[in-house]
Amino acid sequence: MSKKSLSIIVGIIILIAGVMFVKHQYGNHNTHGSAQGSVVEKHAINWTPSTRSALIKEMHSINQNYQELVSNLSQGAWNKVIENAHNIHSAFILKQELSEEDMADLHRILPERFIEMDSKFHDHALKLAMAAQANDGELASMYLGKMAEGCVSCHQIYAKDRFEGFSNLSETTHEH
Ligand code: HEC
Repeated sequence: MSKKSLSIIVGIIILIAGVMFVKHQYGNHNTHGSAQGSVVEKHAINWTPSTRSALIKEMHSINQNYQELVSNLSQGAWNKVIENAHNIHSAFILKQELSEEDMADLHRILPERFIEMDSKFHDHALKLAMAAQANDGELASMYLGKMAEGCVSCHQIYAKDRFEGFSNLSETTHEH
């Protein structure tokens, strides 16, 4: 092999390695730039202050009602279970009373997958309420489990920064 063709081959290899490096660094990341110029995690959502506070409000309501629901269900307190489940269902961020601007922001910043996970979660709350209405403890418990899966699967993708326990999880998360 001549020196010339060898250096061409080496050049090509360096080029490919360079392209792969750049792809690895930037290819998986979306365009949400951060002020610090650091590479932004793929799934981080670019909350505005007021949409973030709407989400936190949703989460606090969900968190409290979910805990009460577990307790009420275990006691067969059907009416309370129905109330908790309805509270969770109506806390849905896209159903809150938001300003037009916040609504537009939400539609802009929320990934489709997040919306899907959130609506599935709220749908399970509604189904749980229906099971409670039928005094069906077994079915209600099943939806309770599905809801817990909903918290975990959403948090491990979209709340990694918030919950240390999910911070080192990579992309391969489970969805059901
Ligand atoms: C579709 C997504 C999604 C689902 C489903 C979900 N969460 Fe969250 N939750 C989030 C995100 C995103 C955050 C982090 C917000 C942040 O601080 O950036 C969060 C934060 C929280 C917080 C912390 C709030 C705070 O004060 O900072 C609590 C508590 C919480 N979630 C409880 C729950 C519980 C309990 C469930 C299920 C019963 C649940 N969430 C289901 C997305 C979700």
